[in-house]
Amino acid sequence: MNMSQISTQDSNRGISSGSRPFGFALDFAGPSATNFSAHLERRLSALHGQFSDQDTYARLLASDPLIYEVYEMRRPEVAGELLHGISIVHPGRVGDEYYMTKGHFHSVRATAEIYYCLRGNGLLLMENQEGDWAAETLTPGRVVYVAPNWAHRSINTGDSEDLVTFFIYPGHAGHDYATIEQRGFRKLVLARSGGFEVVDNSVWLSGGND
Ligand code: F6R
Ligand code: ZN
Repeated sequence: MNMSQISTQDSNRGISSGSRPFGFALDFAGPSATNFSAHLERRLSALHGQFSDQDTYARLLASDPLIYEVYEMRRPEVAGELLHGISIVHPGRVGDEYYMTKGHFHSVRATAEIYYCLRGNGLLLMENQEGDWAAETLTPGRVVYVAPNWAHRSINTGDSEDLVTFFIYPGHAGHDYATIEQRGFRKLVLARSGGFEVVDNSVWLSGGND
């Protein structure tokens, strides 16, 4: 065993302790909970107003399925730090719409983020406040750079596999969820025979949820 292996193994125990360097393995099959210091689960009820098929949403709420999970390395939320972790969007749909994250702008708009896809198939749907939008494919090995000022949402377009991504963003970025909660993204991604389709979101076009 060489010195870097020793250091990586040791540091897996004391994750994010103080300002010591640390290392850990990225497991392509999905995160090992012991490698991360925080775990968040988001169920369907957390995505109120985001899925277009409201009848199906209301029906599925009875079981409130788990839509996605985030494993994060806790670090101080200050400039100079890099927050990082793994996001797992489970496969599934609400009507024709795939399971997806809530999505957000960073509170400090001028902060970027990098996503690296470890597993699965999906899209990173993005938009800025000037009305421009973009969708980048997430497949294993692909990196997506979310430019400063762009809101972002991960969408699992696969049939049966988790969408697993590693993300890194500045410690002082913060999260503005309210803007998306109110109006959604300007585009929806819907399942169609043989693939998916990106369509306009009528809620966004009409100015948002009441
Ligand atoms: C952090 C970031 C990701 C997401 C995660 C869950 O800035 O973009 O860590 O937080 O993919 O999505 P949200 O935060 O939209 O629920
Ligand atoms: Zn983000």
